[in-house]
Amino acid sequence: MRTRVAIIGAGPAGLMLSHLLDRCGIDSVVLELRSREYLEQRVRAGVLESPTVQLLRDVGLGARLDTEGLPHQGFSLRFDREDHRIALNELTGKHIVVYGQQEVVKDLIRARLAAGGQLEFEVTDVTLHDIAASPWVGFTDHGGRRQELHADVLVGADGFHGISRHAYPKGAWRAYDKQYPFAWLGILAQTPPSHEELIYAYTEHGFALHSMRSPAVTRLYLQVAPDEDLANWPDARIWAELELRLALREGNFALTRGPILDRGITAMRSFVAEPMRHGRLFLAGDAAHIVPPTGAKGMNLAIADVSVLAAALEAFFSRNEERWLASYSSRCLRRVWRAEQFSSMMTTMLHIAPTADPFDRQLQLSQLRYIATSAAAATSLAENYVGLPLSDVAP
Ligand code: APR
Ligand code: PHB
Repeated sequence: MRTRVAIIGAGPAGLMLSHLLDRCGIDSVVLELRSREYLEQRVRAGVLESPTVQLLRDVGLGARLDTEGLPHQGFSLRFDREDHRIALNELTGKHIVVYGQQEVVKDLIRARLAAGGQLEFEVTDVTLHDIAASPWVGFTDHGGRRQELHADVLVGADGFHGISRHAYPKGAWRAYDKQYPFAWLGILAQTPPSHEELIYAYTEHGFALHSMRSPAVTRLYLQVAPDEDLANWPDARIWAELELRLALREGNFALTRGPILDRGITAMRSFVAEPMRHGRLFLAGDAAHIVPPTGAKGMNLAIADVSVLAAALEAFFSRNEERWLASYSSRCLRRVWRAEQFSSMMTTMLHIAPTADPFDRQLQLSQLRYIATSAAAATSLAENYVGLPLSDVAP
């Protein structure tokens, strides 16, 4: 088999890249471990930044997003048992859209298949070869046949646990890695949201987040220990802890309860692999970087990477220009590090570390109060939250 761009992984990064390339007439093949059903059910992130929304619309993926996505003009920082609203739209002129990652994935899979795109689901034993000059990928297809896929370029969009990054030669890259001393227990509940906007709650009992997926489905998170066992969290304990952490001073916040449809624990990590290219292998999305979810940046960074990569590949294939590919890594990493700093700041400001002392807590409260009372501080937070412009993308 031969294609121009062999893409490993059918998450938002891999699928979106394949879609963008198709729009400029560049063929690609996407290889994915999981089944289509699995990818379309998996509950992941849910916040689209303003530039991500614009890009999805611009490339023909706005139809369901514009009818089912929930535009949010602001969110609450809840601390001192009061709400302090960050008016995103007033501060920046922009807003975010709440739309589940698996909905983006559904839209992308549908669009790729409708355009005759080649998506190979349920492949196994993916191996990368000759990444310096004439790259190819070995894999076992859904039917059990061993295949070779030769390409001009390989793209590792296989997430944090993928194999692509490990195909770099030893010493050709460095990793920056930071693990946080807590995790998130997330639930999806069949119940209307208890508040019209997201609530990021800082309390002495730890962090909690109120989010949503639709007018009938709520998404909620609790800070828990990094090694926490889900078995220790029966439904009643989850709801009681959410109520405790989301309570307001006047007692006038009622958390609506409902059947829990999905639950899981996610570790909190910051990770960057540099550079994002070696030879003919390019990394995109979680394969190259992870952010803790507090800043809601993960999916947005994945989409930003591939918008840069698609434009660079177009310049390469249509005009034989290498320079945009040459600067792919450094241009992406500027945005990646901005998101790393923002996500780390949000995480550190809102969680209670097991080692936190009263001094640390006062610093957190002071920062939260500053954001709540200073237009300059709130604007800085809002500008990062709604997403900085996708500059440096087009050659
Ligand atoms: N071969 C083929 N596919 C693989 C392999 C492999 N060896 N390893 C992993 N994959 C697949 C995974 O099954 C997954 O579907 O690669 C895909 C990677 O997708 P994501 O993890 O969604 O990563 P990405 O597309 O970069 O999107 C980043 O995902 O983790 C969230 O919060 C994060 O929202 C962000 C988004
Ligand atoms: C979500 O809805 O899943 C969500 C929202 C905001 C975050 C993280 C996750 O910061």
